[in-house]
Amino acid sequence: MSDMKKAQELFDLTGKVALVTGASSGLGRRFGQVLAAHGAKVVLAARSVDKLEQLKGEIEAAGGEAIAVALDVADRSQIAGVFDAAEKAFGTVSVLINNAGVASQQPFLEISEEDWRGVHDVNYEGVRAMAQEGARRMADAGSGGSIVNVASILGLRVAKTLSSYAVTKAAVIQLTKAMAIELARYNIRVNAIAPGYVLTEMNREFFESDDAQPWINAIPQRRIAEPEELDGLILLLASDASSFMTGSVSVIDGGHSLGV
Ligand SMILES: NC(=O)c1ccc[n+]([C@@H]2O[C@H](COP(=O)([O-])OP(=O)(O)OC[C@H]3O[C@@H](n4cnc5c(N)ncnc54)[C@H](OP(=O)(O)O)[C@@H]3O)[C@@H](O)[C@H]2O)c1
Repeated sequence: MSDMKKAQELFDLTGKVALVTGASSGLGRRFGQVLAAHGAKVVLAARSVDKLEQLKGEIEAAGGEAIAVALDVADRSQIAGVFDAAEKAFGTVSVLINNAGVASQQPFLEISEEDWRGVHDVNYEGVRAMAQEGARRMADAGSGGSIVNVASILGLRVAKTLSSYAVTKAAVIQLTKAMAIELARYNIRVNAIAPGYVLTEMNREFFESDDAQPWINAIPQRRIAEPEELDGLILLLASDASSFMTGSVSVIDGGHSLGV
């Protein structure tokens, strides 16, 4: 029994440097808090630096360590600088949570070239560029690491008026698998999560309206999630508790993608 780790030790992130994109609200904000609370030094990245600074203050007040770094994932020229800032403050990033994302709801026939590219540049190219830079640095440092790409159940199925979003999330899932197979030799694990509906700024207005009821009725658990319901999954994938997991896609959706 001496090799049996208790949960606190199993999911401990002490010594890890975690970079979370889209940490200014919703899931990313929660991921930053959870990773810091379990010992990681956290790099909070997004465009809204004021919100990141506030979160950094909350994490520090709770005894954690964090820095706030401005980042637009659609601007390739900013990406190396974020990793440089992380390394200067804490060392090589060993946990990368590619969470930043946007949704655009429009009929396929009406999506402009600009709108399509806007979603693609953040949700897919942003993830790809961050993951490539992060993985190169992990490989160079010989540190290994864990990359978690935030996809969606819409990367596995489709829904009307969400084609651009669904296509980018499917690409993120395929990217995850392609990276996993090449990066295992560097001890870099790459996994995706595919959430169903989680109440965040992205969808709060809709889910707090009466229009949402038919959507909620289509979920076997008859409700949407709160961000904290992803705590266990993000800790599993970020920590060494998932040391033999790579290329996986974890669905967390209250049974939504099973159908009704
Ligand atoms: N909520 C759900 O039901 C749900 C379900 C499945 C998957 N997801 C995925 O979960 C992730 C987080 O979504 P959320 O629900 O937490 O939404 P949210 O509350 O709207 O948060 C989105 C985050 O992404 C950041 N972001 C957007 N564009 C960015 C850019 N160009 N560069 C850097 N950061 C950018 C935003 O920060 P700034 O505006 O400050 O840059 C914000 O922090 C997304 O990838 C989303 O697709 C969400």
